[in-house]
Amino acid sequence: MSPSRALKIFFRRMFCLGPAKLCPLASVRILLCRLMGIQIGSDVYIGFHVELDTNFSELIEIGDHVTISHRCTIVSHMATSVATPLQRLYPPSAAPVRICDGAWLCVGAILLPGVTVGENAVVAAGAVVDRDVPANTLVAGVPARPVKTLSL
Ligand SMILES: CC(C)(COP(=O)(O)OP(=O)(O)OC[C@H]1O[C@@H](n2cnc3c(N)ncnc32)[C@H](O)[C@@H]1OP(=O)(O)O)[C@@H](O)C(=O)NCCC(=O)NCCS
Repeated sequence: MSPSRALKIFFRRMFCLGPAKLCPLASVRILLCRLMGIQIGSDVYIGFHVELDTNFSELIEIGDHVTISHRCTIVSHMATSVATPLQRLYPPSAAPVRICDGAWLCVGAILLPGVTVGENAVVAAGAVVDRDVPANTLVAGVPARPVKTLSL
């Protein structure tokens, strides 16, 4: 990793994500997440202790009127951090994560790299999303699977 990239990641962790996890002001949490390079629409709520990918923050896109509840985790890359034969099986990769307008991630939801959560979809508490979530759909469980269509 180049020194400038390492510095960027350090800045995101130390001065953006760290404070954002605990800051009592919701608007400041959003500002700090934007400073990380995350694309965030209007009227968005991000709760406390939310884990957001600091290596590829710019691959996270959050639409308008989205709620991200406490302790959610959104990762946009995968890589083992040390040399291991597993790297042949799981080479480093990154993929965009999109959360469309009106969606709600309930407390503790986890989004894996490359997924899109559709408009007005709900990810239930504790769910692990490993594939796209259709619009107007509640998904739940590990792995997250559709539970019902939401009539809006
Ligand atoms: C998703 C949620 C809002 C429930 O929505 P709902 O439309 O009322 O869903 P229901 O209660 O009708 O549940 C539908 C099915 O999904 C299941 N389900 C609901 N939440 C689930 C979860 N977190 N994990 C696994 N299954 C879940 C229910 O057991 C039910 O299954 P069944 O049909 O076999 O009985 C709620 O479960 C949830 O996750 N709340 C978290 C709230 C939160 O994050 N608060 C933080 C502050 S914003």
